Amino acid sequence: MAQADRFVEALGEIARGANSLPFRLLAPMAVKAAAVALGVRGCSLLLLTAGHKRLVHTASYGLSDRFRAKGLVDAKRSLQEVTEGQPVAILDASTDPRMQFPELAEQEGIASLLGVPVKVGGETVGSLRAYSRVPRIFHDREVDFLSTAADILGTALGRERWQRQRQGKSPRGTGLSPSLVRPVTFAHPSEEEFARLLDFYEIEWLYEPRSFPLEPGGRGEMFTPDFYLPALDLYLELTTQAQSLLREKKHKVRLLKALYPEVKIKLLSRRDYDRLLAKYGHGPLARAKAEGVGPVFLGRERIARRVRELAKELSQRYQGETPVLVGVLRGVFCFMADLMRHLSIPAEMDFMSISYYGEKSPAVKITKDLDLDISGRHVVLVEDIVDTGMTLRFIIAHLNRRHPKGIAVCALLDKRVRRLVDVSLDFVGFEVPDEFLVGYGLDYREKFRNLPYVAVLKPSED
Ligand code: PRP
Repeated sequence: MAQADRFVEALGEIARGANSLPFRLLAPMAVKAAAVALGVRGCSLLLLTAGHKRLVHTASYGLSDRFRAKGLVDAKRSLQEVTEGQPVAILDASTDPRMQFPELAEQEGIASLLGVPVKVGGETVGSLRAYSRVPRIFHDREVDFLSTAADILGTALGRERWQRQRQGKSPRGTGLSPSLVRPVTFAHPSEEEFARLLDFYEIEWLYEPRSFPLEPGGRGEMFTPDFYLPALDLYLELTTQAQSLLREKKHKVRLLKALYPEVKIKLLSRRDYDRLLAKYGHGPLARAKAEGVGPVFLGRERIARRVRELAKELSQRYQGETPVLVGVLRGVFCFMADLMRHLSIPAEMDFMSISYYGEKSPAVKITKDLDLDISGRHVVLVEDIVDTGMTLRFIIAHLNRRHPKGIAVCALLDKRVRRLVDVSLDFVGFEVPDEFLVGYGLDYREKFRNLPYVAVLKPSED
């Protein structure tokens, strides 16, 4: 068949697919049709992550797993079709400075490539790339063909985004996150649950987007962390299996850190994971009974002293101002009440409340919003405890949309060892270890909030 006929046939197939298939099925079909029509080794659709910094292979045809998992392509360093919104052709992939991973392209047997932008409306959201095994100068009609295929994909993606927004399905509101359009098969149910938790807090994630060679030179054993959180530039490895595997994973994480010092990665063990789920009333630990409370961890005098100090620091910082103290219900009520009464400056107070993971909604809902107008005001967000940081990150983003003059965070307890999301705390009462703490507002299944001190929960023997 002549090339022109192949192009017409492929574009017809892609257009029909765009009319009848969800994007996650259209994309793999389209990249295959484009590769076959062009007579190239492979084709891939790369989408930008929410932060617009990285490109992720979302659907590919004819490329090895190794090549697809080579890394998160830096949108600025790779080709230029994404930043410039124009097609880019590369004749020699092994030497062209616009290639981010030239040695991997060589190992994959890629000599030349063509990239065209994928746009939704006027906005570039990704790239459609064709990879040739032999050195190849792409002609205008080939560039036009790939660009038309990319236009159809962009139109379908725009429609999907609009539908998601209408149904209120996409918590992030863009509907364009690669993790939303790429079908994911999780290796373990705990990973699926973890992905739901991230979705709940509106944290974009990608599942196994990158494999790291663990030997210099890029060959041999690979390590593929379970999750990547683009907004935090953080990889997460979940190890919910046996203890022996945890040791092996720890070893791999150590190797990865040594070989790739720029990569941020956190390992979550079974214990970490169970504790995380228990916080939301899920998993085996949530079913465990508590016998009562153990020894006092922070006595009432110690708490009172520190609260007075924090109130003094806040009064100094906001001298001459009237900040709005915002408390996140319910655990914060003891701390907030004591803190307020020791301030030497005028202050206003308001409360917010949000839904919990595990309730009906797939994303956080504000169940009680602010009554005060905080635009142009200094806000002090008051928390009893900061654990993973996910609540705080969500609330800060929410408050920022109200255009306050500034937001500072004042937390009585900082459980930094459990932090998943980096958030900066301006005023901290105590840094605490990874223990289940109750009292002074903190609860275990709504119990123990009324204790005047903070204690460690004592789980029942059985
Ligand atoms: C606590 C605390 C924070 C949140 C912090 O609330 O009051 O809001 O956990 O956790 P994170 O850093 O892991 O997101 P909790 O969910 O226990 O509700 P409560 O205040 O009603 O006790």
